[in-house]
Amino acid sequence: MTLVIDCCIRGDNSATKKLYTSYLNTLNNETAVEILNLCTQPITPLDAQALEFRDRLIEQRNFQHKMLRYARQFQSADEIVIAAPYWDLSFPSLLKVYLEHVSVSGITFGYEGSECVGYCKAKRMLYFTTCGGCLGKKNLAAEYLEALADMFGISNFYAFAVEGMDIDPSKRNKILKNGISRIMSELKNNN
Ligand SMILES: Cc1cc2nc3c(=O)[nH]c(=O)nc-3n(C[C@H](O)[C@H](O)[C@H](O)COP(=O)(O)O)c2cc1C
Repeated sequence: MTLVIDCCIRGDNSATKKLYTSYLNTLNNETAVEILNLCTQPITPLDAQALEFRDRLIEQRNFQHKMLRYARQFQSADEIVIAAPYWDLSFPSLLKVYLEHVSVSGITFGYEGSECVGYCKAKRMLYFTTCGGCLGKKNLAAEYLEALADMFGISNFYAFAVEGMDIDPSKRNKILKNGISRIMSELKNNN
């Protein structure tokens, strides 16, 4: 199953949504796809009470509790697709909050002796973004997501970005179209 984590805040107006949808259109009909639209999920930052409750669930190894459903879903996916616009040199905070819910010791990763071991099934994580300007030397969002994928045991990480979307608004659609075709051929060569 391909799990799409859709953090495209602008919904159908989102360029990033068009980008990842183009990828989904390349998948064959047999690939099961689950799209998790973060904008419609009741996801809130972990506060002291929620953390204490979650720690108790982990202690009791009560991994079937609904609070841990995002972590279970993430752990069992064969491929992870993350789609989020580039915001403030990173991604919308909603995605970070979601990732807090996914990082559960005993489900997506765990400690074995002094080692941190990833438990996720996915062979690869794809990260799609579009940004108004240019990423420059550092793509902090991609660096962070790659490190997280590694911690979860997902050994292949690929980041794809369409840059320069807001420099001349009259060219936005053209830049997106060209970016999508470049990225789709990169992906084809990767497979
Ligand atoms: C809150 C916010 C923060 C942004 N921060 C950045 C930024 O740090 N760097 C950048 O190049 N573009 C930035 N942008 C521009 C978006 O990355 C760009 O318009 C992108 O194409 C939006 O994607 P979407 O159509 O999927 O929402 C920002 C836009 C918003 C609304």
